Amino acid sequence: MRQSIFAGALPGSRAAGWLLTGAAAIAAAVLFGPQMLRIATGATPHGLDVALFLAQPTVIQAHILAAVGSVAVGAIILWARKGRAFHRAMGWMWVALMGAAAATSLFIVGLNGNIWSLIHLLSGWTLVTLPVAVWAARRHNVNLHRRTMTGVFWGASIVAGGFAFLPGRLMWKLFMG
Ligand code: HEM
Repeated sequence: MRQSIFAGALPGSRAAGWLLTGAAAIAAAVLFGPQMLRIATGATPHGLDVALFLAQPTVIQAHILAAVGSVAVGAIILWARKGRAFHRAMGWMWVALMGAAAATSLFIVGLNGNIWSLIHLLSGWTLVTLPVAVWAARRHNVNLHRRTMTGVFWGASIVAGGFAFLPGRLMWKLFMG
């Protein structure tokens, strides 16, 4: 019994993932909560602030377009039937968009002064995992292909994308500022 409790909390297990996510959420709430609440209470939701978007450096514009495109294409892939020509065509498009989102992010700094921040770990992980996932598909290793691709989709797009909309960051200003 005791062994099975600890077995569920091994690194890499789902329980360890939830534990780490919970700890990160509590740390973020304690560290940034008060400031985010102050900004959030002054939020005024609106459509895309086109002028502010156009005022951004090209690399940030490219990052946003590639990242948002990858979320849309990724969602269609998850929903559609797998293994057919449509899946392959959309899959290549998604890999290109996701690769572009991760690659452009290497040229964006700000959260951590003039050097890379923790989110750049996600960029590196994405750039390593994407070729592995494509290689797995070409080798017909469906299990590895599915795990790596869905891992990048949820881990990179949804986590990095979600963080991008936190109060004070650019996506917040584009829609809420
Ligand atoms: C819908 C998805 C996404 C959106 C809307 C988005 C948006 C943005 C924006 C607007 C910035 C620059 C301004 C700011 O920091 O507020 C940024 C920075 C960044 N993004 Fe994204 N992003 C998305 C997905 C991704 C993905 C998939 C990755 C990596 C795989 C990524 C990695 C980064 C990194 C590393 C930075 C620089 C952070 C820093 O300043 O240190 N983003 N993102």
